[in-house]
Amino acid sequence: MINRHPFHSICPYFAMFPEQFVRHQLLSFSTPGDLVFDPFCGRGTTVFESLLRERAAAGSDINPVAVCIASAKAMAPSLNAVLNRINMLQELYGPVRDIDVPPSPFFEHCYEPRTLAEIMFLREQLRWSETAEDCFIAAMMLGILHGESHRSRYCLSNRMPRTISTKPGYSVRWWNERGLRPPRREVFEILRNVALFRYRLPPAKRHGIVRHSDARMVGETFPELRGRVNLVVTSPPYFDTTDYAEDQWLRLWFLGGASKPEFRKNRDDRHTQVEEYWAFLDAAWKGLASLMNDRATIVIRIGGTKFTKEQLYEKLRSGLEKNLAGFTVKPLHDGITTSIRPREISAFRPTPKRKNVEHDFVYTLHRHVQQIAKKTKPKDAIIER
Ligand SMILES: C[S@@+](CC[C@H](N)C(=O)[O-])C[C@H]1O[C@@H](n2cnc3c(N)ncnc32)[C@H](O)[C@@H]1O
Repeated sequence: MINRHPFHSICPYFAMFPEQFVRHQLLSFSTPGDLVFDPFCGRGTTVFESLLRERAAAGSDINPVAVCIASAKAMAPSLNAVLNRINMLQELYGPVRDIDVPPSPFFEHCYEPRTLAEIMFLREQLRWSETAEDCFIAAMMLGILHGESHRSRYCLSNRMPRTISTKPGYSVRWWNERGLRPPRREVFEILRNVALFRYRLPPAKRHGIVRHSDARMVGETFPELRGRVNLVVTSPPYFDTTDYAEDQWLRLWFLGGASKPEFRKNRDDRHTQVEEYWAFLDAAWKGLASLMNDRATIVIRIGGTKFTKEQLYEKLRSGLEKNLAGFTVKPLHDGITTSIRPREISAFRPTPKRKNVEHDFVYTLHRHVQQIAKKTKPKDAIIER
């Protein structure tokens, strides 16, 4: 029996939720049919797990890698549609291709020439933000684009971590020092196998919505969800921890981005100034306010070694109270702490000595009675029931 839906692991992501964490929150704070939302959705664990548990679900993220992976899971096409599209792309590719290799020694050290030609063809062809089939194929590509190729025959690159893409100069030196050459991989054949593997369980019956949006703008990007969200399960970027765009640079390249890392592309990924960080989170809670239902719950998982649990608790509570105007916000407990698993990249980078922990905070929201009275016209009340 398969315990874990194979879509969850289609592509790893830094600071991702384990799905058991989301499942626990869903069972504690929602019922089937409720709407669950994640403004920092990453690879879409909240969205997909909610859909599997018969909730409606939506999410947003600023990083196209996150949007592609989360959308693929939330709007998965049928297996046949995916396989047909891969076959069609292979026919279109034909036997040989001339390619314009990006002018960086990284690419020829990272990929065997025929493999690189196939990857570049798919990069050019896939309309991942337009069709569900292309989105699913792109998400599978992101999951195999780099990784520990000496361990997995599906991994397309020279040896690299799978969670993050190491920097070009560093990677080339690392491969040269060890005399490592990239393996030949038949990309279309691998994609068919990965699709069969991922579809060992059917997709969720419901479809969700994932949009490329700044968390501070979700009131505008999701107008149809105003006043409807029953539960938020989210994890914002941690203070001074990672630059998602820089650490995902090779995946961003595959989705049409630059052929080198772009430092601070999304300025909110790695705040280093405490005041700016809290101002950013305050603006995110404010953005969320108009989507929240009269009675709702917000679950926040947050880490970062620079704040104590007490500081996080206090800052989140006061930030939510200040920015969710019209609601009474009550913490359900003082926070639950868990240790972070050692990361896969430790073979490539020294592991930090300090023990990393994450804290989970839960807040209940009740809209003030006067606000409900103002909001509820008799006609709406009948339609709502
Ligand atoms: C801790 S991760 C979330 C991981 C997610 N829980 C998962 O399971 O994959 C934080 C996410 O916030 C996103 N992010 C950073 N700034 C943002 C912004 N202004 N608006 C929306 N998303 C943002 C990052 O791209 C990243 O995906």
